[in-house]
Amino acid sequence: MPTTDITLQERLQSARFSAFGAIDFWKENESGIEGATTTGKFKFTVYGSGLIRVQASRFSSFEENPYSVVTEPLTSGFEITEDSSSLQIQTSQLRLKIQKNNFQLTFLKLDGTVLNEDDSLATGWIGTEVNTYKKVQANEKFIGLGEKTGGLNRFGSAYTNWNTDYFAYGTGDDPLYMSIPFFIGTHAQGSYGIFLDNTHKSVFNFGASTRRFIYFGAEDGDMDYYFFHENSISEIISSYTHLTGRMEMPPKWALGFQQCRYSYYPDSEIYTVARTFRDKDMPADVIYLDIHHMEAYKVFTFDGEKFPDPKALIAHLKTQGFRVVVIMDPGIKTEKGYLPYDEGSEKGLFVSYPDGAEYEAQVWPGWCAFPDFTKKETRDWWVEKMQFYTDAGVDGFWTDMNEPASWGQFTPNLIEFDYEGQGASHRKARNIYGMQMARSAQEGSAFQNPKERPFVLTRAGFAGIQRHAAAWTGDNVASEEHMLAGVRLVNSLGLSGVSFAGYDVGGFAGEASKSLFARWMSIATFSPFFRAHSMINSNDAEPWAFGEEVEEISRNYMKLRYKLLPTLYSSFYSSSKNGQPISASLAVDYPQDERIYLSDFQNEYIFCDRFLVAPVESTKEIMKVYLPAGTWYSLYSDEKFEGRRTHFVECPLNYLPVFVKESSLFTCQSEVSHTAEQTDGVLSIHTYPGEQDCSFIHYEDDGLSLEYKKGAHSKRKLNYSAKTKTIELTEVDGEYSSDFDQLRIYFHDFKGKEVQVNGESVKVKSENFAFLGKLTEFDPLPETSHPFHEIQDLTFIEIPNSTKRITIQL
Ligand code: GLC
Repeated sequence: MPTTDITLQERLQSARFSAFGAIDFWKENESGIEGATTTGKFKFTVYGSGLIRVQASRFSSFEENPYSVVTEPLTSGFEITEDSSSLQIQTSQLRLKIQKNNFQLTFLKLDGTVLNEDDSLATGWIGTEVNTYKKVQANEKFIGLGEKTGGLNRFGSAYTNWNTDYFAYGTGDDPLYMSIPFFIGTHAQGSYGIFLDNTHKSVFNFGASTRRFIYFGAEDGDMDYYFFHENSISEIISSYTHLTGRMEMPPKWALGFQQCRYSYYPDSEIYTVARTFRDKDMPADVIYLDIHHMEAYKVFTFDGEKFPDPKALIAHLKTQGFRVVVIMDPGIKTEKGYLPYDEGSEKGLFVSYPDGAEYEAQVWPGWCAFPDFTKKETRDWWVEKMQFYTDAGVDGFWTDMNEPASWGQFTPNLIEFDYEGQGASHRKARNIYGMQMARSAQEGSAFQNPKERPFVLTRAGFAGIQRHAAAWTGDNVASEEHMLAGVRLVNSLGLSGVSFAGYDVGGFAGEASKSLFARWMSIATFSPFFRAHSMINSNDAEPWAFGEEVEEISRNYMKLRYKLLPTLYSSFYSSSKNGQPISASLAVDYPQDERIYLSDFQNEYIFCDRFLVAPVESTKEIMKVYLPAGTWYSLYSDEKFEGRRTHFVECPLNYLPVFVKESSLFTCQSEVSHTAEQTDGVLSIHTYPGEQDCSFIHYEDDGLSLEYKKGAHSKRKLNYSAKTKTIELTEVDGEYSSDFDQLRIYFHDFKGKEVQVNGESVKVKSENFAFLGKLTEFDPLPETSHPFHEIQDLTFIEIPNSTKRITIQL
């Protein structure tokens, strides 16, 4: 019977691979090409001269992802041609060749070299699962893919994107909390990026269990990817973050040190922790309220016994220069009489079963309903509810458990989400849920506190999450291995558009040893997001809780972090404009240098575009560092190191190996106890000579409001010219009057007696200079003494700051 035959045929088809097939028909449209193959529809859309979107579907219309992409296609700047076997789209920097007989795609540079090419199996389906199969180019490396464990080079491994709550994950485990289906491929012919815009569970296999191809694809939905080609990895990241959006400028306090614990309570404990930071002269900006601030873990409540007067608490903390960030979990206790539940239920804002019954699962408060953040009404409602916290004076929001997590860790796939009116099951909505919760938190903060910039920290997310929140890498473990893995996770997030990221310093689960905590503090000083956190029932884990030595090392590095704030803040500004990582794997600048991918060196990274940080276990006193091309200066001693070589360097606990790139400029300020405290008004500019030119934007604004968007900022370029040996501070742009009235310009590796400032000769002074203070000798025995590095006779000048151009001739 015919019906049975069709069913059988369909069933056979879904059990086996079915190729997308040969092109039947095609036509030009305003932004590219669309057409059909024997099995479905396709579309190629030009989004930029180095950016083409590829869509293939088996349905009559393409799926839309309303969440990640924020730009529009081009309508000119490309050319379409056809020959007997292929179609071609060419832009000013990229050519895409589409093989008519099998839909095999080849992306080429205009000189004809291949960047990326499909295997002859091209694109196809197995049941609802869709994949694209790609050839591997000679010696190709694969980097990025967001919050993924494993090595810097992902070749040989496979990864799943499925947002997962994973307490105390192993350093090779996958998947974790956040999914960013974007990777970068790089080989001798060039580099490219691929972003798969599909929120279903997806898999990226970079050659695990096969040597024929690499492939990527999703459990369901269309093949819908964006192909990026630019001349450098950083331009690819720029292009990706142009497409999916960039971080908003955060409040400056979010760059300071942040102290968390699961949980500080009652309020007296918080008063004590805050006061201890000040008493101990350890700069810090933020204290977190974890889940015990709530009554029975119910969001939008305070526990009346533990926190009888949250408003007074927060107001008091503010007088000490602290900001408060509060946790928000999505689960709403299904308890009649609890207003958020009653309201959400009445308005139909919760995720439900297909028959309309509310979906319930257990989290901290017990059985909970889950707000459907993929629905605008729910987000708007959450925005209103957040008044509860802003009324109490809360400044920042921490969206946790938003994978969403629930006990049992296995959400039934049939539950339903709005997905911006499209309707979707959990299969399609899970990966986007956390990002939409973070978005609600950001919108809520902006709405409730419109004069200040929002700060949101999120655990789960998807491509584009950088527009809404900073990210941290969840429940890590107090181990050496985890400390280093965290660095790679943050660097990988940076390759994937999320430049504001960090990890729990000291490790969330388990107990850090003294040395581990000290080393972790020093590494995290060079992390965009700098927060210590630890698990319930663990030992105290504040930077003073590990004895005097660790306290002094921590203080030294915390102070260094605050001294470097002008550089860090300027890097955040640049990153908000160009999407570049603040913590950048060496693969960003040196992708063709084979050695950077070796396991010994893959954790090294460039921080704020000028410091090379070599993270190392706390148990080592000497380490092998690879320095890429150029000359490098030890931050602490100015000792010079040649690049393209490995060096053995000492790494006692009080000195994390950090190097400054030749031809660098960076800025520092005086010590402060929190980011909003006034400095002494002197901006130090450290200059290092070298063979390359360099340029760096120094950026200032009030650090808090949105006035910078209306021009209330102070921005100038600091340029170094290698040829003329001049340092130039361009005229200030913007209406913010600088926080600094004096400049102290340090000349590292400079032996001259005078310099010319705007043509006038100025004598240089000199002093012995140290970025880190000397440690107290706790133990009188000489062999326990800590090394101390000072730069001898470092030359400098002091001149008044001005908004006009300043030129210094060395
Ligand atoms: C989750 C978070 C952790 C938090 C805890 C309690 O495990 O990842 O940071 O402290 O929940 O809220």
